[in-house]
Amino acid sequence: MPVVLGKAPGKVILFGEHAVVFGRPAIAIPVTKVNASARIFPNLQGQPGQINIQAQAISLDADLEDLPNDHPLAKAIQITLSAVAPHHIPALTIQVDSSIPVAGGMGSSAAVSVAIIRALSAFLGGSLSPEEISELAFEVEKLHHGTPSGIDNNVIAHQKPVYFIKNQPIQFLQIDQPTHWVLGDTGEKTPTRETVLAVRALHGSDAPRFEIVFDQIGALTDGAQTALKAGDLTELGWLMNENQRLLEKLNVSSPTLEALIQAARGAGAAGAKLSGGGRGGNMIALAESENIAMVEKAIINAGAVRTITTKLAEGGVS
Ligand code: MEV
Repeated sequence: MPVVLGKAPGKVILFGEHAVVFGRPAIAIPVTKVNASARIFPNLQGQPGQINIQAQAISLDADLEDLPNDHPLAKAIQITLSAVAPHHIPALTIQVDSSIPVAGGMGSSAAVSVAIIRALSAFLGGSLSPEEISELAFEVEKLHHGTPSGIDNNVIAHQKPVYFIKNQPIQFLQIDQPTHWVLGDTGEKTPTRETVLAVRALHGSDAPRFEIVFDQIGALTDGAQTALKAGDLTELGWLMNENQRLLEKLNVSSPTLEALIQAARGAGAAGAKLSGGGRGGNMIALAESENIAMVEKAIINAGAVRTITTKLAEGGVS
């Protein structure tokens, strides 16, 4: 049996994080410059059914049967086996790697799950649709994040820009004009579970007030859908800055994020905001094509540990 490789990109949320957990729309795009991969090797010396999993980044080298059932990698493997229901499972090794920053709001957990589900299902001869892969990865996301909206597994499994509302059919974004995005990583790692829990607690303290904030974020996201299609930088920039203001009300911003956001705006970005769970992780800025390098430089000078640029254009992301 040949080695099988499954890959999955990172993702970035352009509009609507946190409000999406409460039923409002959000927009996310895949980021293909970073990715997770799973390689499956047949293990000719192993016993049938023996599955070994190796993930160097977390110093893991264990057999599936020795991992607890709620281990996210074990869960991704188990649910794939249940979905494919193969007659025979040969001894195999799954090697997981990822260049997506962990706990940085770029969907690393969903990408690892999607890569494993893709590779293992292909290795076992099962053919799962992106929708099915997304649904399986969502089960693992619940272990990681508690009450995720499902946007990460959807955008990553479909590898297309999405307009997403929880529990509704996914919509793919139509893009007529390209836009350029610069991501800045604060280097601070904050698990999404923590910020989602914090926002839930805040909402619980004054639900009517925060329902209004979520409605306002939802309205910005709806406006962004039209502005993205047309590549309207002025409108998109304003919408991003407003979205950031509302995220600050949700108490998920941080001084480091705000330093990078201010630096990007100061360098001429049309708009900038945090992206993902917040309180660290990544911010995102919208730049004109001739201004990308300036914005990147300003973000680095303000303390970012890395920048990633991505272009959103007709047909997807490059
Ligand atoms: C995480 O990428 C985005 C959040 O809105 C959480 C979620 O949607 O599950 C913060």
